[in-house]
Amino acid sequence: MDRTPSGVGGLDELIGGGFMPGSSVLVCGGSGTGKTILSTQFIYKGAEQYKEPGIYITLEEGSKNIWWNMKSFHWNITKLQQENLVKIYRFGMFSPKEFALKFDEELEKIKRMVEEMGAKRLVIDSTTTIGMFMESESEVRYNLFKLIDEMKKLDCTTLLIAETEGTRDKFSRFGVEEFVVDGVIALYFVPPVRCMLIKKLRGINHDKKVHPFEINEYGVEINPSEQILWESLSK
Ligand SMILES: Nc1ncnc2c1ncn2[C@@H]1O[C@H](COP(=O)(O)OP(=O)(O)O)[C@@H](O)[C@H]1O
Ligand SMILES: [Mg+2]
Repeated sequence: MDRTPSGVGGLDELIGGGFMPGSSVLVCGGSGTGKTILSTQFIYKGAEQYKEPGIYITLEEGSKNIWWNMKSFHWNITKLQQENLVKIYRFGMFSPKEFALKFDEELEKIKRMVEEMGAKRLVIDSTTTIGMFMESESEVRYNLFKLIDEMKKLDCTTLLIAETEGTRDKFSRFGVEEFVVDGVIALYFVPPVRCMLIKKLRGINHDKKVHPFEINEYGVEINPSEQILWESLSK
């Protein structure tokens, strides 16, 4: 069976070789848990090792920050951008009133970029920011559902980032994201320990333990042979 390797050291062996091609996976966790770094690595390694073009869509930080982030791990991002294998795209910012209209325009832009580039990997950082533009909960649900649905149609393997309060059994901010995606990976930071749980991955007999990981000069690296007790994570 074909898989999309995550590019994250130690992760692929926990998920049978990689994600299902074309699937959407929510990467959730509190602030500073490593969501952005893990997702930039997915794009970078995808392009560098597997020659799969990828687009990093940022709503949270400027493109320059994401670029610096990649640079700080000694990743030769500029070369991949020149080869049109990596694109960092800053999603437009709007007032809640203009959001409905602009949101569709942005989705169209993303679709065109995916087609032009032949992108196979996508990251949306983050769904939480999109939700912040909405005034009511039903609007949040509707728009996030639409976004995830549109991303699925693009046939890219997509990581969607959700920022949570960091407690162990909260997997999304608005309570919709985790149900519409094919998978959920939760990141935790209980200083000084960082750890990760694969909460769900449709169609994959994935590992079910909490594993420690570190962020070092190579990016994110998971230790599949060690485990952290669920009880030690904050409730
Ligand atoms: N080069 C690095 N080496 C080690 N740790 C780093 C490095 N760069 C960032 N970090 C750690 O990663 C954290 C930020 O991770 P990030 O992916 O931006 O978090 P999130 O997106 O979940 O808020 C920083 O607070 C820092 O602890
Ligand atoms: Mg982030």
